[in-house]
Amino acid sequence: MPAIAIIGAQWGDEGKGKATDLLGNRVDYVVKFNGGNNAGHTVVIGDQKYALHLLPSGILTPGCTPVIGNGVVVDLAVLFEEIDGLEARGVDTSLLKVSANAHVIADYNRSLDKVTERFLGSRRIGTTGRGIGPTYADKMNRVGIPIQDIFDEKILTQKVEGVLELKNQILTKIYNRRSATVEQTVEELLAFAERLHPMVCDTGLLLNQALDRGETVLLEAGQATLLDVDHGTYPFVTSSSATAGGACTGSGIPPMRMDQVIGIVKAYTTRVGEGPFPTELSDDFGEHLRKVGAEYGTTTGRPRRCGWYDSVIARYAARVNGVTDFVLTKLDVLTGLEKVPVCVAYDVNGVRHDEMPVNQSDFHHAVPIYEDFPGWWEDISAAKTFEDLPKNAKDYVLAVEKMSGARISAIGVGPDRDATIVVHELI
Ligand code: IMP
Repeated sequence: MPAIAIIGAQWGDEGKGKATDLLGNRVDYVVKFNGGNNAGHTVVIGDQKYALHLLPSGILTPGCTPVIGNGVVVDLAVLFEEIDGLEARGVDTSLLKVSANAHVIADYNRSLDKVTERFLGSRRIGTTGRGIGPTYADKMNRVGIPIQDIFDEKILTQKVEGVLELKNQILTKIYNRRSATVEQTVEELLAFAERLHPMVCDTGLLLNQALDRGETVLLEAGQATLLDVDHGTYPFVTSSSATAGGACTGSGIPPMRMDQVIGIVKAYTTRVGEGPFPTELSDDFGEHLRKVGAEYGTTTGRPRRCGWYDSVIARYAARVNGVTDFVLTKLDVLTGLEKVPVCVAYDVNGVRHDEMPVNQSDFHHAVPIYEDFPGWWEDISAAKTFEDLPKNAKDYVLAVEKMSGARISAIGVGPDRDATIVVHELI
């Protein structure tokens, strides 16, 4: 039985939660392997809407073990807030497991995220302000705090003392902020130790043993390919590995055990935060997509930037991740348009690019070359099979599939859990 990765193929918010949920009943483990509470999955079950920021969406599937892997950065206050919120609505969270090697987001990292953005001014990244970047930077600088350290007060105090020596210089001397105290930082982290302890384990071992037993493990990416620190539109990226490679390092599952990579693409494109976005629309069509698609951030509430489908980035995502299947979400949002343009390539200073330009300056200057497809007006939200779609919607999907480098195995036609056409079974 396989390990399967689900990856965002654009700039995030493609609807991964829904795709994960679609598979949920057939998987034994759902693993979050990167990012932190900068993510936002919205899962709709019946008349209940769940917005998850940190917990893997498998938490909503009874019997499925949700896992926070070693590649994640964890804000412990948010973790318990989310657990308590779900428990209050009758969701059982008792199976949750957390890696001993995931790093904690300390208060000084949240402060530094916000002040750094302010300091950058027009050069800001547009981060979620949750302390994600500074926490990953600490991990790479070898001054981070893995979860296992909060169970040893002496070690924790030593590490916090060490890291604050430098952080406090930065906070007070560069940013003119209050310094953080060792006592308060340690106290804030220790406050969660007792509740956290039973959930913490060697999740890499747990997951590999599950695969040995023939169980199915789903690796669920936070953020997306174009926000990946290596493969995204650097520096306008998040600080973790959101691609299929990151699914291995962030979980401890080796590459050869990963059988399937499902890329999630929206039928159009959105982005939050700063950075280049060739097909962005600043006209009425952009506003239309935002309104009809309810494109506002789950985590920050920010309006998302909207634009047409970009097959260049979809092809890129297919290549970087080895996508075996795409799930095309929110096709219904395109209903009611006279024509639906798709970006097939870029024009960069008079030169056609069919693949992502390697040079970021070129990408900033990329002008989309569009092919227009005729629109459809029929309500597609009740479509159960591909054949149920109007001809123009079918042609759009087939054209997008041909351009994007992997088969489209499922199509989202509405926000409900059931409003999905399965073209090829995903497992
Ligand atoms: P950070 O992850 O908070 O450091 O933000 C870095 C960039 O990634 C910003 O442009 C954010 O808007 C973007 N970002 C982070 N998480 C998500 C997400 O879940 N969906 C979409 N964009 C995100």
